[in-house]
Amino acid sequence: MIRQNLFRFLTPAGLAAVCGLLFAPTACDNIHVTRYFERAAVVSAAPLATDAGVRVFRNGGNAFDAAVVVGFVLAVVDPEAGNIGGGGFAVMRHGASGEITTLDFRETAPAAAHEAMFLDDSGRVLEGHSLVGAKAAGVPGTVAGLYAIWQKYGSLPWEDLVRTAADLADTGFTVDERLAATLAEYADSLRRYPETARLFAPTGATPSKGERFVQSDLAHTLYQIAAEGPEAFYTGAIAALIDSTMRVHGGLITRDDLAAYKAIWRKPVHVRFDSLDVYSMPPPSSGGIVLGQILKIIEPFDMSAWLPDSPEYLRLLVESSRLAFADRATHLGDPDFYEIPAGLLDDSYLRIRRELIPASGAGSSSQIGPGMPMRPETEATTHFSVCDADGNMVALTYTLNSWYGSLVTVDGAGFLLNNEMDDFSIKAGEPNQFGLVGGDANKIVPGKRMLSSMTPTLVLNNGRPCMVLGSPGGSKIISAVAQTILNVSRFNMSLNEAVLHPRVHHQWIPDKVSLEQGGYSVAVIQRLIREGYDVEEVKSIGNVNAILIESTGLMQAVADTRRQGVAGGY
Ligand code: DON
Repeated sequence: MIRQNLFRFLTPAGLAAVCGLLFAPTACDNIHVTRYFERAAVVSAAPLATDAGVRVFRNGGNAFDAAVVVGFVLAVVDPEAGNIGGGGFAVMRHGASGEITTLDFRETAPAAAHEAMFLDDSGRVLEGHSLVGAKAAGVPGTVAGLYAIWQKYGSLPWEDLVRTAADLADTGFTVDERLAATLAEYADSLRRYPETARLFAPTGATPSKGERFVQSDLAHTLYQIAAEGPEAFYTGAIAALIDSTMRVHGGLITRDDLAAYKAIWRKPVHVRFDSLDVYSMPPPSSGGIVLGQILKIIEPFDMSAWLPDSPEYLRLLVESSRLAFADRATHLGDPDFYEIPAGLLDDSYLRIRRELIPASGAGSSSQIGPGMPMRPETEATTHFSVCDADGNMVALTYTLNSWYGSLVTVDGAGFLLNNEMDDFSIKAGEPNQFGLVGGDANKIVPGKRMLSSMTPTLVLNNGRPCMVLGSPGGSKIISAVAQTILNVSRFNMSLNEAVLHPRVHHQWIPDKVSLEQGGYSVAVIQRLIREGYDVEEVKSIGNVNAILIESTGLMQAVADTRRQGVAGGY
Protein backbone atom coordinates (compact mmCIF):
# COMPACT_ATOMS: atom_id res chain seq x y z
CA MET A 1 0.00 0.00 0.00
CA ILE A 2 1.30 3.41 -0.90
CA ARG A 3 1.44 5.60 2.16
CA GLN A 4 2.72 9.09 1.74
CA ASN A 5 2.48 10.32 5.28
CA LEU A 6 5.85 9.35 6.67
CA PHE A 7 7.65 12.39 5.30
CA ARG A 8 5.29 14.66 7.20
CA PHE A 9 6.75 13.46 10.47
CA LEU A 10 10.28 13.69 9.25
CA THR A 11 11.63 17.18 9.52
CA PRO A 12 15.03 17.56 7.83
CA ALA A 13 16.62 17.09 11.25
CA GLY A 14 14.50 14.01 11.95
CA LEU A 15 15.29 12.58 8.57
CA ALA A 16 18.97 13.23 9.14
CA ALA A 17 18.74 11.31 12.40
CA VAL A 18 16.99 8.38 10.71
CA CYS A 19 19.52 8.53 7.89
CA GLY A 20 22.29 8.51 10.43
CA LEU A 21 20.95 5.24 11.76
CA LEU A 22 20.10 3.55 8.50
CA PHE A 23 22.15 4.99 5.66
CA ALA A 24 25.67 5.84 4.71
CA PRO A 25 26.47 9.37 5.90
CA THR A 26 27.07 10.52 2.31
CA ALA A 27 23.47 9.73 1.41
CA CYS A 28 22.35 12.28 3.99
CA ASP A 29 24.42 15.18 2.81
CA ASN A 30 21.72 16.48 0.53
CA ILE A 31 18.54 15.75 2.40
CA HIS A 32 17.07 19.01 1.17
CA VAL A 33 16.66 17.65 -2.36
CA THR A 34 12.88 17.19 -2.22
CA ARG A 35 11.03 20.16 -3.62
CA TYR A 36 7.26 20.52 -3.49
CA PHE A 37 5.18 21.96 -6.34
CA GLU A 38 1.48 22.40 -7.03
CA ARG A 39 1.30 23.08 -10.76
CA ALA A 40 4.17 21.30 -12.48
CA ALA A 41 7.46 19.55 -11.74
CA VAL A 42 10.58 18.76 -13.74
CA VAL A 43 13.55 16.69 -12.53
CA SER A 44 16.55 16.41 -14.83
CA ALA A 45 20.32 16.02 -14.70
CA ALA A 46 21.12 19.71 -15.28
CA PRO A 47 19.93 23.00 -13.73
CA LEU A 48 19.67 24.77 -17.11
CA ALA A 49 17.54 21.96 -18.52
CA THR A 50 15.21 21.88 -15.51
CA ASP A 51 14.89 25.70 -15.63
CA ALA A 52 14.09 25.62 -19.34
CA GLY A 53 11.43 22.98 -18.73
CA VAL A 54 9.81 25.02 -15.94
CA ARG A 55 9.80 28.13 -18.17
CA VAL A 56 7.80 26.19 -20.76
CA PHE A 57 5.06 25.64 -18.18
CA ARG A 58 5.11 29.31 -17.19
CA ASN A 59 4.69 30.19 -20.89
CA GLY A 60 1.55 28.08 -21.13
CA GLY A 61 3.09 24.85 -22.42
CA ASN A 62 2.26 21.36 -21.17
CA ALA A 63 4.41 18.49 -19.86
CA PHE A 64 5.11 17.24 -23.40
CA ASP A 65 6.36 20.65 -24.57
CA ALA A 66 8.54 20.78 -21.46
CA ALA A 67 9.93 17.29 -22.15
CA VAL A 68 10.87 18.30 -25.71
CA VAL A 69 12.70 21.37 -24.41
CA VAL A 70 14.48 19.46 -21.63
CA GLY A 71 15.53 16.82 -24.18
CA PHE A 72 17.09 19.37 -26.54
CA VAL A 73 18.63 21.52 -23.79
CA LEU A 74 20.33 18.47 -22.21
CA ALA A 75 21.95 17.87 -25.63
CA VAL A 76 23.61 21.28 -25.19
CA VAL A 77 24.40 21.47 -21.47
CA ASP A 78 24.88 17.78 -20.56
CA PRO A 79 26.70 16.46 -23.64
CA GLU A 80 28.04 13.30 -22.02
CA ALA A 81 24.55 11.81 -22.10
CA GLY A 82 22.09 14.42 -23.37
CA ASN A 83 22.05 14.06 -27.11
CA ILE A 84 20.67 14.35 -30.59
CA GLY A 85 23.06 11.64 -31.79
CA GLY A 86 21.62 8.87 -29.60
CA GLY A 87 18.21 7.45 -28.80
CA GLY A 88 15.89 6.44 -26.01
CA PHE A 89 12.42 5.69 -24.76
CA ALA A 90 9.52 7.61 -23.19
CA VAL A 91 6.50 6.43 -21.22
CA MET A 92 3.75 9.03 -21.16
CA ARG A 93 0.30 9.65 -19.77
CA HIS A 94 -2.02 12.12 -21.44
CA GLY A 95 -4.01 13.70 -18.63
CA ALA A 96 -7.19 14.61 -20.55
CA SER A 97 -7.76 11.16 -22.06
CA GLY A 98 -5.91 9.06 -19.47
CA GLU A 99 -4.15 7.34 -22.38
CA ILE A 100 -0.79 5.77 -21.50
CA THR A 101 1.60 5.24 -24.39
CA THR A 102 5.26 4.58 -24.95
CA LEU A 103 7.55 5.85 -27.65
CA ASP A 104 10.53 3.83 -28.86
CA PHE A 105 13.17 6.08 -30.41
CA ARG A 106 15.97 3.57 -29.95
CA GLU A 107 18.81 3.52 -32.48
CA THR A 108 18.77 0.91 -35.27
CA ALA A 109 21.56 -1.16 -36.83
CA PRO A 110 22.54 0.31 -40.22
CA ALA A 111 21.64 -1.74 -43.33
CA ALA A 112 25.30 -2.68 -43.81
CA ALA A 113 25.61 -4.06 -40.25
CA HIS A 114 25.95 -7.82 -39.86
CA GLU A 115 26.15 -10.42 -37.15
CA ALA A 116 29.93 -10.81 -37.23
CA MET A 117 30.87 -7.16 -37.69
CA PHE A 118 32.69 -6.94 -34.35
CA LEU A 119 34.51 -10.30 -34.73
CA ASP A 120 37.80 -11.11 -36.45
CA ASP A 121 38.18 -13.87 -39.05
CA SER A 122 38.56 -16.50 -36.38
CA GLY A 123 35.44 -15.35 -34.58
CA ARG A 124 37.16 -13.53 -31.72
CA VAL A 125 35.70 -10.26 -30.46
CA LEU A 126 37.53 -7.18 -31.75
CA GLU A 127 38.15 -5.43 -28.46
CA GLY A 128 36.59 -1.95 -28.22
CA HIS A 129 35.20 -1.88 -31.77
CA SER A 130 31.58 -1.85 -30.64
CA LEU A 131 32.35 0.98 -28.21
CA VAL A 132 34.60 3.53 -29.92
CA GLY A 133 34.53 4.89 -33.47
CA ALA A 134 31.97 5.38 -36.21
CA LYS A 135 31.07 1.67 -36.55
CA ALA A 136 29.87 1.68 -32.94
CA ALA A 137 27.06 4.09 -33.80
CA GLY A 138 23.49 3.07 -34.47
CA VAL A 139 21.14 5.26 -36.53
CA PRO A 140 20.14 8.03 -34.07
CA GLY A 141 16.53 8.28 -32.93
CA THR A 142 16.37 11.26 -30.57
CA VAL A 143 15.28 13.94 -33.05
CA ALA A 144 12.54 11.71 -34.50
CA GLY A 145 11.47 10.80 -30.96
CA LEU A 146 11.19 14.30 -29.57
CA TYR A 147 9.34 15.38 -32.72
CA ALA A 148 6.87 12.47 -32.43
CA ILE A 149 6.12 13.44 -28.81
CA TRP A 150 5.54 17.05 -29.85
CA GLN A 151 3.42 16.06 -32.86
CA LYS A 152 1.08 13.89 -30.77
CA TYR A 153 0.80 15.92 -27.61
CA GLY A 154 2.66 19.24 -27.86
CA SER A 155 0.89 22.58 -27.70
CA LEU A 156 3.53 25.29 -28.29
CA PRO A 157 5.23 25.82 -31.68
CA TRP A 158 8.02 23.29 -32.38
CA GLU A 159 10.32 26.02 -33.63
CA ASP A 160 10.11 27.97 -30.35
CA LEU A 161 10.81 24.84 -28.29
CA VAL A 162 13.92 23.83 -30.23
CA ARG A 163 15.21 27.41 -30.46
CA THR A 164 15.54 27.47 -26.65
CA ALA A 165 18.32 24.91 -26.95
CA ALA A 166 19.79 26.43 -30.12
CA ASP A 167 20.08 29.84 -28.43
CA LEU A 168 21.91 28.28 -25.48
CA ALA A 169 24.40 26.60 -27.79
CA ASP A 170 24.80 29.83 -29.75
CA THR A 171 25.33 32.29 -26.91
CA GLY A 172 26.98 29.71 -24.69
CA PHE A 173 26.51 28.96 -21.01
CA THR A 174 28.72 28.94 -17.95
CA VAL A 175 30.31 25.56 -17.36
CA ASP A 176 29.42 24.24 -13.92
CA GLU A 177 31.54 22.08 -11.65
CA ARG A 178 29.99 18.81 -12.72
CA LEU A 179 30.40 19.36 -16.48
CA ALA A 180 33.95 20.66 -16.00
CA ALA A 181 34.79 17.55 -13.99
CA THR A 182 33.36 15.05 -16.49
CA LEU A 183 34.99 16.82 -19.43
CA ALA A 184 38.33 16.78 -17.60
CA GLU A 185 37.92 13.12 -16.69
CA TYR A 186 37.27 12.18 -20.32
CA ALA A 187 39.73 14.72 -21.82
CA ASP A 188 42.07 12.10 -23.31
CA SER A 189 39.19 10.23 -24.94
CA LEU A 190 37.67 13.48 -26.23
CA ARG A 191 40.94 14.37 -27.95
CA ARG A 192 40.98 11.08 -29.85
CA TYR A 193 38.96 12.39 -32.81
CA PRO A 194 39.93 15.86 -34.17
CA GLU A 195 36.34 17.06 -34.58
CA THR A 196 35.47 15.98 -31.03
CA ALA A 197 38.62 17.70 -29.78
CA ARG A 198 37.65 20.88 -31.69
CA LEU A 199 34.28 20.80 -29.94
CA PHE A 200 35.26 19.91 -26.37
CA ALA A 201 38.91 20.98 -26.12
CA PRO A 202 39.23 23.85 -28.59
CA THR A 203 42.28 25.27 -26.84
CA GLY A 204 43.76 21.88 -26.04
CA ALA A 205 42.21 21.80 -22.57
CA THR A 206 38.56 21.05 -21.84
CA PRO A 207 36.53 24.05 -20.56
CA SER A 208 36.86 24.60 -16.84
CA LYS A 209 34.32 25.67 -14.24
CA GLY A 210 33.11 29.25 -14.81
CA GLU A 211 34.17 29.34 -18.46
CA ARG A 212 31.63 30.20 -21.15
CA PHE A 213 31.04 27.25 -23.47
CA VAL A 214 29.79 28.17 -26.96
CA GLN A 215 28.85 25.45 -29.48
CA SER A 216 28.33 27.23 -32.81
CA ASP A 217 28.07 24.13 -35.01
CA LEU A 218 25.54 22.56 -32.66
CA ALA A 219 23.61 25.86 -32.61
CA HIS A 220 23.46 25.83 -36.42
CA THR A 221 22.29 22.19 -36.37
CA LEU A 222 19.57 22.96 -33.84
CA TYR A 223 18.38 26.06 -35.72
CA GLN A 224 17.94 23.85 -38.79
CA ILE A 225 15.96 21.29 -36.77
CA ALA A 226 13.88 24.15 -35.33
CA ALA A 227 13.07 25.56 -38.76
CA GLU A 228 12.72 22.38 -40.85
CA GLY A 229 11.75 19.72 -38.30
CA PRO A 230 13.28 16.22 -38.31
CA GLU A 231 13.70 16.30 -42.12
CA ALA A 232 16.78 18.49 -41.60
CA PHE A 233 18.32 15.65 -39.60
CA TYR A 234 17.11 12.59 -41.50
CA THR A 235 17.10 13.74 -45.14
CA GLY A 236 18.54 17.28 -45.21
CA ALA A 237 21.83 19.03 -44.55
CA ILE A 238 22.55 17.24 -41.25
CA ALA A 239 22.01 13.83 -42.88
CA ALA A 240 24.61 14.82 -45.48
CA LEU A 241 27.12 15.66 -42.72
CA ILE A 242 26.48 12.37 -40.90
CA ASP A 243 26.95 10.52 -44.19
CA SER A 244 30.28 12.22 -44.94
CA THR A 245 31.52 11.67 -41.35
CA MET A 246 30.73 7.98 -41.76
CA ARG A 247 32.73 7.80 -44.98
CA VAL A 248 35.74 9.53 -43.40
CA HIS A 249 35.74 7.33 -40.30
CA GLY A 250 34.68 3.99 -41.78
CA GLY A 251 31.17 3.99 -40.28
CA LEU A 252 28.16 2.24 -41.76
CA ILE A 253 25.27 4.71 -41.45
CA THR A 254 24.09 5.91 -44.87
CA ARG A 255 21.59 8.52 -46.03
CA ASP A 256 19.17 5.66 -46.75
CA ASP A 257 19.48 4.44 -43.15
CA LEU A 258 18.70 7.94 -41.89
CA ALA A 259 15.78 8.43 -44.29
CA ALA A 260 14.31 5.07 -43.20
CA TYR A 261 14.47 5.80 -39.45
CA LYS A 262 11.10 5.82 -37.64
CA ALA A 263 10.21 6.31 -33.99
CA ILE A 264 7.62 3.68 -32.99
CA TRP A 265 4.62 4.01 -30.63
CA ARG A 266 4.28 0.84 -28.55
CA LYS A 267 1.86 -0.49 -25.96
CA PRO A 268 3.33 -0.16 -22.44
CA VAL A 269 4.22 -3.14 -20.29
CA HIS A 270 1.61 -3.04 -17.51
CA VAL A 271 1.86 -4.94 -14.25
CA ARG A 272 -0.37 -4.73 -11.27
CA PHE A 273 1.80 -4.71 -8.13
CA ASP A 274 -0.14 -4.65 -4.85
CA SER A 275 -2.65 -1.85 -5.43
CA LEU A 276 -0.43 -0.09 -7.95
CA ASP A 277 -0.48 -0.07 -11.74
CA VAL A 278 3.07 0.10 -13.04
CA TYR A 279 3.55 1.12 -16.70
CA SER A 280 6.96 0.78 -18.26
CA MET A 281 8.85 0.28 -21.49
CA PRO A 282 8.29 -2.84 -23.61
CA PRO A 283 10.98 -4.38 -25.87
CA PRO A 284 13.29 -3.39 -27.45
CA SER A 285 13.91 -2.27 -23.90
CA SER A 286 14.14 -5.09 -21.40
CA GLY A 287 13.29 -2.54 -18.69
CA GLY A 288 9.53 -3.08 -18.36
CA ILE A 289 9.56 -6.89 -18.49
CA VAL A 290 12.51 -7.33 -16.12
CA LEU A 291 11.09 -4.71 -13.72
CA GLY A 292 7.68 -6.41 -13.94
CA GLN A 293 9.15 -9.86 -13.27
CA ILE A 294 11.11 -8.62 -10.24
CA LEU A 295 8.04 -6.93 -8.74
CA LYS A 296 5.71 -9.86 -9.47
CA ILE A 297 8.13 -12.47 -8.11
CA ILE A 298 8.45 -10.42 -4.91
CA GLU A 299 4.74 -9.57 -4.59
CA PRO A 300 3.52 -12.55 -2.51
CA PHE A 301 6.27 -12.18 0.10
CA ASP A 302 5.31 -10.57 3.38
CA MET A 303 8.00 -8.01 4.13
CA SER A 304 6.32 -6.30 7.03
CA ALA A 305 8.86 -7.61 9.52
CA TRP A 306 11.88 -6.74 7.37
CA LEU A 307 13.94 -3.58 7.25
CA PRO A 308 14.85 -2.30 3.78
CA ASP A 309 18.49 -3.20 4.33
CA SER A 310 17.94 -6.54 6.04
CA PRO A 311 19.68 -9.63 4.62
CA GLU A 312 16.26 -11.28 4.09
CA TYR A 313 15.06 -8.48 1.80
CA LEU A 314 18.40 -8.21 -0.02
CA ARG A 315 18.32 -11.95 -0.65
CA LEU A 316 14.83 -11.71 -2.14
CA LEU A 317 15.87 -8.81 -4.39
CA VAL A 318 18.96 -10.70 -5.55
CA GLU A 319 17.16 -13.98 -6.25
CA SER A 320 14.26 -12.34 -8.11
CA SER A 321 16.73 -10.27 -10.16
CA ARG A 322 18.76 -13.39 -10.97
CA LEU A 323 15.65 -15.06 -12.41
CA ALA A 324 14.49 -12.00 -14.34
CA PHE A 325 17.91 -11.22 -15.85
CA ALA A 326 18.32 -14.88 -16.93
CA ASP A 327 15.14 -14.48 -19.00
CA ARG A 328 16.44 -11.15 -20.33
CA ALA A 329 19.56 -12.79 -21.73
CA THR A 330 17.66 -15.41 -23.72
CA HIS A 331 14.20 -14.15 -24.48
CA LEU A 332 14.46 -10.41 -25.10
CA GLY A 333 15.36 -8.46 -28.21
CA ASP A 334 13.71 -6.23 -30.78
CA PRO A 335 10.15 -7.60 -31.16
CA ASP A 336 10.09 -6.63 -34.84
CA PHE A 337 12.91 -9.13 -35.49
CA TYR A 338 12.57 -11.77 -32.80
CA GLU A 339 9.52 -13.54 -31.46
CA ILE A 340 9.42 -12.75 -27.76
CA PRO A 341 7.53 -15.32 -25.67
CA ALA A 342 4.20 -13.86 -24.61
CA GLY A 343 4.00 -15.37 -21.15
CA LEU A 344 6.97 -13.71 -19.45
CA LEU A 345 4.73 -11.84 -17.01
CA ASP A 346 2.03 -14.49 -16.58
CA ASP A 347 1.23 -15.40 -12.98
CA SER A 348 1.42 -19.13 -13.75
CA TYR A 349 4.87 -18.78 -15.29
CA LEU A 350 6.20 -16.55 -12.51
CA ARG A 351 4.89 -18.99 -9.88
CA ILE A 352 7.13 -21.69 -11.39
CA ARG A 353 10.08 -19.28 -11.52
CA ARG A 354 9.52 -18.13 -7.92
CA GLU A 355 9.75 -21.73 -6.72
CA LEU A 356 13.36 -21.81 -7.95
CA ILE A 357 14.36 -19.45 -5.14
CA PRO A 358 16.11 -21.64 -2.55
CA ALA A 359 14.58 -21.67 0.93
CA SER A 360 17.91 -20.57 2.37
CA GLY A 361 21.40 -19.70 1.18
CA ALA A 362 22.50 -18.30 -2.15
CA GLY A 363 21.01 -19.48 -5.42
CA SER A 364 23.41 -20.20 -8.26
CA SER A 365 23.34 -18.72 -11.75
CA SER A 366 24.90 -21.87 -13.18
CA GLN A 367 21.86 -23.78 -12.01
CA ILE A 368 19.27 -21.16 -12.94
CA GLY A 369 18.70 -20.77 -16.65
CA PRO A 370 16.07 -18.84 -18.53
CA GLY A 371 12.56 -20.19 -18.17
CA MET A 372 10.28 -21.57 -20.86
CA PRO A 373 7.23 -19.31 -21.02
CA MET A 374 4.52 -20.00 -23.60
CA ARG A 375 5.23 -18.78 -27.12
CA PRO A 376 2.38 -16.84 -28.72
CA GLU A 377 0.38 -18.89 -31.18
CA THR A 378 0.23 -16.41 -34.03
CA GLU A 379 1.98 -13.09 -33.40
CA ALA A 380 4.73 -12.21 -32.49
CA THR A 381 21.13 7.88 -19.90
CA THR A 382 20.03 10.41 -18.70
CA HIS A 383 16.56 10.24 -17.36
CA PHE A 384 14.13 13.07 -16.75
CA SER A 385 10.65 13.14 -15.25
CA VAL A 386 8.00 15.77 -15.93
CA CYS A 387 4.41 16.09 -14.80
CA ASP A 388 1.72 18.71 -14.36
CA ALA A 389 -1.52 19.28 -12.50
CA ASP A 390 -3.54 18.18 -15.57
CA GLY A 391 -2.37 14.60 -15.07
CA ASN A 392 0.15 14.68 -17.94
CA MET A 393 3.21 12.59 -17.11
CA VAL A 394 6.42 12.03 -19.05
CA ALA A 395 9.19 9.62 -18.06
CA LEU A 396 11.96 9.86 -20.65
CA THR A 397 15.34 8.11 -20.68
CA TYR A 398 17.73 8.67 -23.57
CA THR A 399 21.41 8.05 -24.07
CA LEU A 400 24.57 7.90 -26.16
CA ASN A 401 25.24 4.61 -24.28
CA SER A 402 28.75 5.21 -22.84
CA TRP A 403 29.64 8.68 -21.64
CA TYR A 404 30.25 10.75 -24.79
CA GLY A 405 29.10 7.75 -26.87
CA SER A 406 31.39 6.60 -29.70
CA LEU A 407 33.59 9.73 -29.19
CA VAL A 408 32.91 10.57 -32.87
CA THR A 409 31.48 14.03 -33.56
CA VAL A 410 29.62 14.63 -36.82
CA ASP A 411 31.95 16.91 -38.81
CA GLY A 412 30.60 20.44 -38.86
CA ALA A 413 27.39 19.53 -37.01
CA GLY A 414 28.65 19.78 -33.43
CA PHE A 415 27.16 16.64 -31.89
CA LEU A 416 28.41 13.24 -30.78
CA LEU A 417 27.22 9.92 -32.11
CA ASN A 418 26.18 7.05 -29.84
CA ASN A 419 28.03 3.74 -29.38
CA GLU A 420 24.82 1.80 -29.00
CA MET A 421 25.92 -1.12 -31.23
CA ASP A 422 27.57 -2.49 -28.07
CA ASP A 423 24.11 -3.17 -26.64
CA PHE A 424 23.63 -5.90 -29.25
CA SER A 425 24.92 -9.33 -28.35
CA ILE A 426 28.02 -9.09 -30.57
CA LYS A 427 28.77 -12.77 -29.95
CA ALA A 428 26.60 -15.31 -28.12
CA GLY A 429 27.52 -15.35 -24.44
CA GLU A 430 30.05 -12.50 -24.78
CA PRO A 431 29.39 -9.82 -22.12
CA ASN A 432 28.87 -6.23 -23.26
CA GLN A 433 30.19 -3.22 -21.34
CA PHE A 434 27.56 -3.78 -18.64
CA GLY A 435 28.48 -7.47 -18.34
CA LEU A 436 25.17 -8.43 -19.97
CA VAL A 437 25.08 -11.51 -22.15
CA GLY A 438 22.65 -12.48 -24.88
CA GLY A 439 22.16 -14.66 -27.90
CA ASP A 440 19.93 -14.96 -30.93
CA ALA A 441 17.21 -12.68 -29.63
CA ASN A 442 19.63 -9.76 -29.57
CA LYS A 443 22.07 -10.53 -32.39
CA ILE A 444 22.88 -7.84 -34.96
CA VAL A 445 20.51 -7.67 -37.94
CA PRO A 446 20.24 -4.67 -40.30
CA GLY A 447 17.48 -2.30 -39.21
CA LYS A 448 17.09 -4.01 -35.84
CA ARG A 449 17.07 -2.17 -32.49
CA MET A 450 19.55 -3.30 -29.84
CA LEU A 451 18.14 -4.51 -26.50
CA SER A 452 18.09 -1.86 -23.79
CA SER A 453 17.69 -1.73 -20.02
CA MET A 454 16.22 1.76 -19.99
CA THR A 455 13.16 1.78 -17.76
CA PRO A 456 11.19 5.02 -17.90
CA THR A 457 8.21 4.21 -15.68
CA LEU A 458 4.87 5.63 -14.56
CA VAL A 459 3.00 4.38 -11.49
CA LEU A 460 -0.72 4.92 -10.98
CA ASN A 461 -2.56 4.27 -7.74
CA ASN A 462 -6.26 3.52 -8.30
CA GLY A 463 -6.02 5.25 -11.65
CA ARG A 464 -4.50 8.37 -10.11
CA PRO A 465 -1.04 9.63 -11.14
CA CYS A 466 1.38 8.53 -8.45
CA MET A 467 5.02 8.34 -9.59
CA VAL A 468 7.15 9.30 -12.59
CA LEU A 469 10.64 7.81 -12.49
CA GLY A 470 13.64 6.36 -14.30
CA SER A 471 17.41 6.22 -14.17
CA PRO A 472 20.63 5.89 -16.13
CA GLY A 473 23.07 3.09 -15.25
CA GLY A 474 22.99 0.34 -17.90
CA SER A 475 21.72 -2.95 -16.49
CA LYS A 476 21.55 -1.36 -13.02
CA ILE A 477 18.75 0.94 -14.20
CA ILE A 478 16.17 -1.77 -13.64
CA SER A 479 17.31 -2.44 -10.06
CA ALA A 480 17.27 1.28 -9.25
CA VAL A 481 13.71 1.71 -10.55
CA ALA A 482 12.40 -1.47 -8.91
CA GLN A 483 13.87 -0.62 -5.51
CA THR A 484 12.60 2.97 -5.58
CA ILE A 485 9.06 1.70 -6.18
CA LEU A 486 9.45 -0.96 -3.46
CA ASN A 487 10.89 1.55 -0.99
CA VAL A 488 7.85 3.79 -1.37
CA SER A 489 5.20 1.11 -1.60
CA ARG A 490 6.46 -1.58 0.78
CA PHE A 491 8.61 0.39 3.23
CA ASN A 492 6.50 3.57 3.35
CA MET A 493 9.46 5.81 2.60
CA SER A 494 9.04 9.36 1.41
CA LEU A 495 10.27 9.75 -2.15
CA ASN A 496 13.42 11.44 -0.86
CA GLU A 497 14.31 8.48 1.36
CA ALA A 498 13.34 6.02 -1.35
CA VAL A 499 15.69 7.61 -3.86
CA LEU A 500 18.58 8.09 -1.44
CA HIS A 501 18.38 4.63 0.09
CA PRO A 502 21.34 2.32 -0.74
CA ARG A 503 20.75 -0.13 -3.59
CA VAL A 504 21.64 -3.67 -4.53
CA HIS A 505 21.98 -5.28 -7.97
CA HIS A 506 22.21 -8.78 -9.43
CA GLN A 507 21.95 -9.60 -13.14
CA TRP A 508 22.24 -13.42 -13.30
CA ILE A 509 25.62 -13.29 -15.03
CA PRO A 510 28.08 -12.48 -13.53
CA ASP A 511 26.80 -14.28 -10.43
CA LYS A 512 27.68 -11.41 -8.11
CA VAL A 513 25.74 -9.27 -5.67
CA SER A 514 26.65 -5.59 -6.13
CA LEU A 515 26.04 -3.41 -3.07
CA GLU A 516 26.46 0.34 -2.94
CA GLN A 517 29.64 1.27 -1.10
CA GLY A 518 29.02 2.33 2.48
CA GLY A 519 25.31 1.55 2.17
CA TYR A 520 25.15 -1.65 4.18
CA SER A 521 26.51 -2.67 7.54
CA VAL A 522 29.42 -5.09 7.84
CA ALA A 523 27.08 -7.51 9.65
CA VAL A 524 24.67 -7.61 6.69
CA ILE A 525 27.49 -8.06 4.17
CA GLN A 526 29.05 -10.84 6.26
CA ARG A 527 25.72 -12.62 6.52
CA LEU A 528 25.29 -12.57 2.72
CA ILE A 529 28.81 -13.91 2.26
CA ARG A 530 28.14 -16.66 4.82
CA GLU A 531 25.01 -17.63 2.88
CA GLY A 532 27.17 -18.18 -0.19
CA TYR A 533 26.83 -14.92 -2.13
CA ASP A 534 29.75 -13.41 -3.99
CA VAL A 535 29.48 -9.79 -2.83
CA GLU A 536 31.17 -6.76 -4.39
CA GLU A 537 30.87 -3.09 -3.42
CA VAL A 538 30.23 -0.61 -6.22
CA LYS A 539 30.27 3.19 -6.18
CA SER A 540 26.67 3.66 -7.18
CA ILE A 541 23.67 1.94 -8.69
CA GLY A 542 21.66 4.24 -10.94
CA ASN A 543 20.62 7.83 -10.49
CA VAL A 544 16.86 8.16 -10.10
CA ASN A 545 15.13 11.42 -11.06
CA ALA A 546 11.59 11.05 -9.80
CA ILE A 547 8.33 12.77 -8.95
CA LEU A 548 5.72 11.48 -6.49
CA ILE A 549 2.25 12.96 -6.72
CA GLU A 550 0.45 12.94 -3.38
CA SER A 551 -3.30 12.35 -3.19
CA THR A 552 -3.71 16.10 -2.58
CA GLY A 553 -2.03 16.71 -5.95
CA LEU A 554 1.12 18.13 -4.34
CA MET A 555 4.18 16.98 -6.26
CA GLN A 556 7.34 15.84 -4.47
CA ALA A 557 10.22 16.20 -6.90
CA VAL A 558 13.51 14.52 -6.08
CA ALA A 559 16.81 14.52 -7.94
CA ASP A 560 19.13 11.71 -6.93
CA THR A 561 22.28 12.98 -5.22
CA ARG A 562 24.43 10.18 -6.67
CA ARG A 563 24.86 12.58 -9.59
CA GLN A 564 23.82 16.21 -9.27
CA GLY A 565 20.38 16.45 -10.82
CA VAL A 566 17.99 19.30 -10.19
CA ALA A 567 14.30 19.41 -9.34
CA GLY A 568 12.23 22.41 -10.35
CA GLY A 569 8.63 23.43 -10.81
CA TYR A 570 6.08 25.91 -9.55
O1 DON B 1 20.12 1.02 -23.37
C1 DON B 1 20.81 0.67 -22.44
O2 DON B 1 20.45 -0.16 -21.63
C2 DON B 1 22.17 1.31 -22.25
N1 DON B 1 22.64 1.77 -23.51
C3 DON B 1 22.05 2.41 -21.23
C4 DON B 1 23.36 3.12 -21.01
C5 DON B 1 23.43 3.79 -19.70
O3 DON B 1 22.51 3.79 -18.92
C6 DON B 1 24.70 4.44 -19.39
N2 DON B 1 24.52 5.21 -18.22
N3 DON B 1 25.09 5.22 -17.24
